[in-house]
Amino acid sequence: MRFLEMAKKRYSVRSYQPRKVEDEKLLKILEAGRVAPTGANTQPYKLIVIREIEGLEKVKKAANIFGAPLAIIVCGDKNQAWKRPFDGKNIVDIDASIVTDHMMMQATELDLGTVWICYFKPDVIRKEFNLPDHMEPINILAIGYANGEVASSDRHDRARKPLDEIVSYEKL
Ligand SMILES: Cc1cc2nc3c(=O)[nH]c(=O)nc-3n(C[C@H](O)[C@H](O)[C@H](O)COP(=O)(O)O)c2cc1C
Repeated sequence: MRFLEMAKKRYSVRSYQPRKVEDEKLLKILEAGRVAPTGANTQPYKLIVIREIEGLEKVKKAANIFGAPLAIIVCGDKNQAWKRPFDGKNIVDIDASIVTDHMMMQATELDLGTVWICYFKPDVIRKEFNLPDHMEPINILAIGYANGEVASSDRHDRARKPLDEIVSYEKL
């Protein structure tokens, strides 16, 4: 599948079948995350894969994962991330999000549904998974086989701003 076709096919899945994600598919998803670029190649992140009931219950204390059988908590290490020298901006969120996006698109290619989750209680994730202070849970990617109606690829005509609203050339 061509990239743009796949990008249009992806949608946020908020209902999942209980069916587990196969190990080979999970490995491909993780590999796609691994090869993602990060600022100065610092790779300042860890991926916590949650697929056992006990772990999923812990995640559910912090977030709604919509019944997904698999969740990946993308944690960023702010001490390892590159900082822009001019203003000290730490880019750990950007790095973690590129990794998350790579995994999300790989899952899409494997015909899996995903939803990217930022609406979670970070303190609960920290406590349940014993994260040290320098590790921040940044994104949770819920993954599984979708249930229910498939969103159409042409919904972007309505659900996204048109190019002329978001793009300008040479000046804002
Ligand atoms: C950074 C980010 C955070 C998001 N957080 C949540 C979330 O916490 N819960 C949720 O249900 N969806 C979340 N989403 C999904 C968005 O709501 C969704 O991508 C957007 O509405 C567009 O819909 P689509 O993914 O179906 O194209 C998030 C998406 C992104 C990119």
